[in-house]
Amino acid sequence: MFSLLNFVTLGLACTWSVLAFPSTYTSLGGLPREELDRILPSLQYRSPGAPPGPLKFNGTKLVNDDQHPWKPLKHGDMRGPCPGLNTLASHGYLPRNGIATPVQIINAVQEGFNMENSVARLVTYAAHLVDGNLITDKLSIGGKSPLTGPSPPAPANAAGLNTHALFEGDVSMTRADAFFGDNHSFNETLFDEFTAFSNQFGAGKYNLTVAAEYRFHRIQESIATNPNFSFVSPRFFTAYAESVFPINFFIDGRQGDGQLDLDVARGFFQNMRMPDGFHRASMPTGLEGLAEIASVHPISPGANVNGVNTYTFDPSSADFTTFCLLYVNFVNQTVRSLYPEPTGNLKKALKKNLEFLYGPFSDQCSQVFPYGKDN
Ligand code: HEM
Ligand SMILES: *[C@@H]1O[C@H](CO)[C@@H](O)[C@H](O)[C@H]1NC(C)=O
Ligand SMILES: *[C@@H]1O[C@H](CO)[C@@H](O)[C@H](O)[C@H]1NC(C)=O
Ligand SMILES: *[C@@H]1O[C@H](CO)[C@@H](O)[C@H](O)[C@H]1NC(C)=O
Ligand SMILES: *[C@@H]1O[C@H](CO)[C@@H](O)[C@H](O)[C@H]1NC(C)=O
Ligand SMILES: *[C@@H]1O[C@H](CO)[C@@H](O)[C@H](O)[C@H]1NC(C)=O
Ligand SMILES: *[C@@H]1O[C@H](CO)[C@@H](O)[C@H](O)[C@H]1NC(C)=O
Repeated sequence: MFSLLNFVTLGLACTWSVLAFPSTYTSLGGLPREELDRILPSLQYRSPGAPPGPLKFNGTKLVNDDQHPWKPLKHGDMRGPCPGLNTLASHGYLPRNGIATPVQIINAVQEGFNMENSVARLVTYAAHLVDGNLITDKLSIGGKSPLTGPSPPAPANAAGLNTHALFEGDVSMTRADAFFGDNHSFNETLFDEFTAFSNQFGAGKYNLTVAAEYRFHRIQESIATNPNFSFVSPRFFTAYAESVFPINFFIDGRQGDGQLDLDVARGFFQNMRMPDGFHRASMPTGLEGLAEIASVHPISPGANVNGVNTYTFDPSSADFTTFCLLYVNFVNQTVRSLYPEPTGNLKKALKKNLEFLYGPFSDQCSQVFPYGKDN
């Protein structure tokens, strides 16, 4: 069952050392011991808050309201590859600078879009464990301001959710693969393809039929053009999840017919903006539609192993039949490789966040304890 699978990670990319000063939201993952010893004393430990529960009122309601007006970016605001989080920040459901705690992120995706609680927790703690700062309990939703126009862009760095191969990955719908350079900004060429597919398969709307075809097309395109193309867990799961998110979350909850208008889509993807009068989904929603689109053109996890057009199945990757392996590999390999021997508050924070991550898996998978069971 896929109800919980989502974003996670692999790899060890670390552009960290190029930053002269640690910021309070930059990940500490992958840092050598000496670096950690140097940096940790400068950071104030903030004990992670307990994950929020489900919404009390879980129906549709006006969310582009007077308390949450869209505002243009200010210098230094962080935005990244996720149009959902970008939009929540630009409407003030998240801090407008794009730096947030996991608790703020879960509250925002629930309140603003009616994302279902266990999916929200899974995605948020997975992202935070690899891309967030576990000492300060803060995560950047991006790395720099991508919008041209009135707001001056902040200095680029690869912090937060832009960190390629940790959480961000190939075959995004409207963002190019990292191999081609910019992996997080809205890409007009790709949005044109999104539009062309919506015209061809959805009579001018983005719906599940379009999602299945465009997802498959983007995979074929990367196989044929990106020598570095990688499509293994967790990206294998998240790519399908993200293909259904626009249908599940960007359609007005009063409309609910599964047909996303392309101007509305552009508003979210490019301008990080809800339409006037926008109402959130009419019930808590997660990965509805994922299994349906993945079954149209089944593909196994794999990678181009020797240049373009050499896509090869990778049996070590989790796939839709091995959901718990997604969790186990994430914790036991990805997180542990980023933090091989944590001590003190770092170890404490890791264990707490791993506990929070396990919550949404607890009804299906056994817990793994890379840092022991003691407190
Ligand atoms: C709960 C916390 C969330 C986190 C940590 C998160 C993170 C991310 C990340 C890292 C990506 C980039 C993956 C990639 O394309 O390489 C992404 C993509 C995406 N996210 Fe989110 N996301 C969250 C919630 C949401 C919500 C609530 C929505 C919808 C309202 C959403 C909609 C999308 C969509 C549509 C994409 C695909 C963009 C594209 O392919 O062009 N996400 N998200
Ligand atoms: C929505 O809230 C109602 C009332 O509290 C509850 O009975 C229902 O189970 C909730 N729906 C979901 C999907 O959580
Ligand atoms: C947009 O994506 C296309 C296709 O992946 C790529 O060739 C192009 O370089 C990207 N454009 C920008 C401005 O990044
Ligand atoms: C592509 O893969 C090669 C070999 O693994 C690596 O050296 C290079 O950094 C990768 N390039 C990008 C942009 O990911
Ligand atoms: C992703 O894009 C950012 C900004 O363009 C860049 O600094 C970073 O190196 C890219 N990541 C990879 C792996 O190419
Ligand atoms: C998507 O739109 C097309 C064209 O209207 C329609 O034939 C198809 O059934 C729609 N698919 C879904 C899942 O709504
Ligand atoms: C986690 O990794 C450790 C050390 O490599 C190994 O002994 C253990 O069996 C792994 N646990 C699982 C559940 O794979």
